[in-house]
Amino acid sequence: MSHKLAFVGFGTVGQGLAEILLNKKDELREILNEDIQVVAISDAQKGSLYHSDGLDLERVLAVVREAGNLNKYPDSPELRRGWDSLQTIRQSNADTVIEVTFTNVHTGQPAIDHCREAFINRKNVVTTNKGPIALAYDELSSLAEKNGVQWGFEGTVMSGTPSLRMPLVSLAGNRILSIQGILNGTTNYILTKMEEGLTYDAALKQAQQNGFAEADPTSDVEGYDAMYKIIILAKVIMGVPLKPEEVVRHGIQNLTNDDILSAKKQRKRWKLIAKVVRTQHGIQASVQPETLDLDHPLASVQGVENAITYDCDLSGPVTLVGAGAGKVETGFALLIDIINLIRRCKESQVILGA
Ligand code: HSE
Repeated sequence: MSHKLAFVGFGTVGQGLAEILLNKKDELREILNEDIQVVAISDAQKGSLYHSDGLDLERVLAVVREAGNLNKYPDSPELRRGWDSLQTIRQSNADTVIEVTFTNVHTGQPAIDHCREAFINRKNVVTTNKGPIALAYDELSSLAEKNGVQWGFEGTVMSGTPSLRMPLVSLAGNRILSIQGILNGTTNYILTKMEEGLTYDAALKQAQQNGFAEADPTSDVEGYDAMYKIIILAKVIMGVPLKPEEVVRHGIQNLTNDDILSAKKQRKRWKLIAKVVRTQHGIQASVQPETLDLDHPLASVQGVENAITYDCDLSGPVTLVGAGAGKVETGFALLIDIINLIRRCKESQVILGA
């Protein structure tokens, strides 16, 4: 038996997951008692492949590494090429769609349409795109439920650091009073490097070269990326819907080296803090640069690292520190969802068969 995946989008994150699936094939079979098989890949730039019995992932990764596209993957009688994302979602025999396309963070497209199409076609979705959760959570959750499928989006906040599953599972029973954190690796990296003496532009360039800045880095530096993450946390963890215009948002683009140095002289540090707080009148959410005392738990989070503190009514503050971006880390986030999804499918089969 195998669980079949279709990749829609095959950029850095998708390839990160494919490498993990290849390198951990035996371990995963042991954990899940079944194989995970990739049957389709459709990418707007790299081309597309579909084979109902599974693709050879080692060959896929080798041709993409070599030529930057899927054209040189060997032909065979049953191999199909040229399916676009929607055809792949509709016509492949995948159980689960891995939705990792380049998506416009403000419209959530094409990821929202891909999720809709997958659910209508009774396929599960695992995604790292923030748009579908930040902008269409209720609609998509109902559609998934109506069609008896699941969706996973652990990687939308803090990549493979379980910022969603940890509070949902391990802090269950608490009322979460507030959430605050450093949720964008690019800006934290820039601030760290500026403190070391680099200019803003040089630090941003390094973040882009290292591959953690968004395709359009204004999303990082102007606070949009962190804003969508706080909207996801408010909805998924606190059950509170927020619209983008309800979040106070300021980026780091106007901070100068002088600002950073004068904070340093006062034993403080600038951080881009994202927070959502329950108040007597509802909820307040913001993303903005703040100066923290050096002994503040979030002040020591440096470079691309992220951190998040959940203030809970029973367990008090709980802080999680870890990666917030990266090829392997975000690939792993997809894997956490896939493993949990397969386990839940097996549990429901057991219950149905009881
Ligand atoms: N550009 C994002 C960051 C990637 O720097 O944190 C993960 O969402």
